[in-house]
Amino acid sequence: MPPSARPTPADVTRGRLLFGGDYNPEQWPEETWREDVRLMREAGVNTVTVGVFSWARLEPRPGEHDFGWLDRVMDLLHGAGVGVVLATPTASPPPWLGRLHPDTLPRDEDGHLERWGGRQHFSHSSATYRRHAAAITEALAARYAGHPALTLWHINNEYCTYDWGDEAAARFRTWLRHRHGTLDALNEAWGTAFWSQGYGDWAEVLPPRRTHYLKNPAQVLDFRRFTSDMLLECFTAERDIVRRHTPRVPVTTNVMPLWEGVDAWRWAREEDVVSVDLYPDPRDPLGAQYGALVQDMTRSQAGGGPWMLMEQAAGAVAWRGVNHPKPRGLNRLWSLQAVARGADAVCYFQWRQSRQGAEKFHSGMVGHAGEHGRTHQEVRRIGADLARIAPHVVPGRVTAEVAVLHDWHSWWAGEHEGRLSREVTLPVVLRAWHRALWEAHLTTDFAHPEHDLTRYRMIVVPQLYLLTDAAVDNLVAQVRRGATLVCGFLTGVADEDDRVRPGGMDPRLRELFGIRTLHEWWPLEAGETIPCEGFRGTLWSEELEGDGTADATTPYRGGELDGLPAVLRKGTAWYVSTLPEPAALRALLTRIATGAGVRPVLDGLPERVEAVRRGEALFLLNHGAGPVTVEVPGTHRDLLTGTTLTDRVTLPRHGVAVLRP
Ligand code: GLA
Repeated sequence: MPPSARPTPADVTRGRLLFGGDYNPEQWPEETWREDVRLMREAGVNTVTVGVFSWARLEPRPGEHDFGWLDRVMDLLHGAGVGVVLATPTASPPPWLGRLHPDTLPRDEDGHLERWGGRQHFSHSSATYRRHAAAITEALAARYAGHPALTLWHINNEYCTYDWGDEAAARFRTWLRHRHGTLDALNEAWGTAFWSQGYGDWAEVLPPRRTHYLKNPAQVLDFRRFTSDMLLECFTAERDIVRRHTPRVPVTTNVMPLWEGVDAWRWAREEDVVSVDLYPDPRDPLGAQYGALVQDMTRSQAGGGPWMLMEQAAGAVAWRGVNHPKPRGLNRLWSLQAVARGADAVCYFQWRQSRQGAEKFHSGMVGHAGEHGRTHQEVRRIGADLARIAPHVVPGRVTAEVAVLHDWHSWWAGEHEGRLSREVTLPVVLRAWHRALWEAHLTTDFAHPEHDLTRYRMIVVPQLYLLTDAAVDNLVAQVRRGATLVCGFLTGVADEDDRVRPGGMDPRLRELFGIRTLHEWWPLEAGETIPCEGFRGTLWSEELEGDGTADATTPYRGGELDGLPAVLRKGTAWYVSTLPEPAALRALLTRIATGAGVRPVLDGLPERVEAVRRGEALFLLNHGAGPVTVEVPGTHRDLLTGTTLTDRVTLPRHGVAVLRP
């Protein structure tokens, strides 16, 4: 590797599929550690993440370090052949930091302090917090730089905090000066002429704290951008410290799946390995589809290459209203789904279920029932499966001809409290569109609207309320080169300062779809539907007038919008001004994909069977309630069982086959 090149995921995995989880030995006596290591070996665990919440143990008093226990843990794991993903412990500062330095604590929008006693009680903007976080990171990196167990750095944990306090306000002003230059430009970008908000001095500019009535949407949007950037600064500061000590050890941070707080596209560029935590609800009939969405998104953030499933649950989580365990086989099914969609690591929170603390009812790879418990026995089976398929699967990549576009800035702007319908949220719309593609067995990547999209035949925009000029031009250019573009409602409404574009939709897009005038938006009530020719729309509808250039339209039927276009097609550009019911959206996208020359992974797949190709391996995953037979022409070897099969395979409930020609 040339000295300047960054290490890659392959430097961590070295041809294996990683299997393991968060390991918190500080919660247990040392006898348990030896037992842990025995069980890890038996279960095929080859990686654990250590130290995520260990700051108080590593630095019990300011500047006083206790690394002895961690030395022993690292040595023990290394001796057992288990690699260590070493975490900086900065997500949960020790109580002394908050007591001695209250300026490290974040404030909510009412000015209330968030104190220790939980976790993530740190202000991303606090210079004192950053200094102490840097110091413990420095000490950790210096101590373990040469340790043979160290395979990957894991910075912090699920960065997800906001701060409306004074120090954050000062940093916000600096950030705004950088973005807007002058106060005049800020006033212009925020539209402060509305409601007498004009700023005459930078000192007047605040984070969007509690107000009597609706907040300025552009101010809120910039605050969200700022928050993502501040958290990213915390990440890169620690990343740079560990890189200085270990230039060849890759760095990651585990982001929450589809979490609104951080712009994960931007973050992925700063990581050597992209990782994600994923907790679909076992009771959600669309849990597998949600998983697929997050996995597609994460793979895309990793540039199509391997990524890490850093955390999932072996059974129940402990933070939903009602927390269900995973029925037999579901953990295995969802783990193999992640591998199918490009993961090179299947990891859990956490190895051993805690007996104390806030998450003592959150499952572990070794649950309260111990090694003979069903959950642990299933974990062992997964470990064996991963070892068996790794040599065939790891070299393979998932490729897609369909890109779904997503952008955090658009999400932030689109969900302002002054919008026309609170029923419309980006996750609902995004999931509906991805579901339609997933159920149509079309493999999808995700992309940012300004990315190079030239390798995709079909580009799907569930909703991009805010589009920059560059993004609009990019979409237009894709259609010009012959790609198929399908846009959902409320797309292209605002520019990057959340200013409504002329006519309510960017004129370049209106021309693309053959729309002369967007007269009105007609949001629907929860549960309300609107008849269209051949299907029913949900959530939203639009009063559009075509300009006569569209090649085809599907009209609304009945009511105020009777006869007006619900769907327009002009050449290869489609606009869908409502959210068709699930079966209708699936049928529409299937038809459009066929026209674009995009084929499903396999023809004739039963409904609840997911098929994904990763390199030469064909994964078949049964998400249905009972056994199912899948037609797969030809002779194949099932890598999981070692058996050869011809033309068809029967999968039990939660069953998986990984086939190779
Ligand atoms: C997240 C966190 C873990 C743990 C789990 C519980 O993924 O990173 O520390 O709290 O949630 O689901």
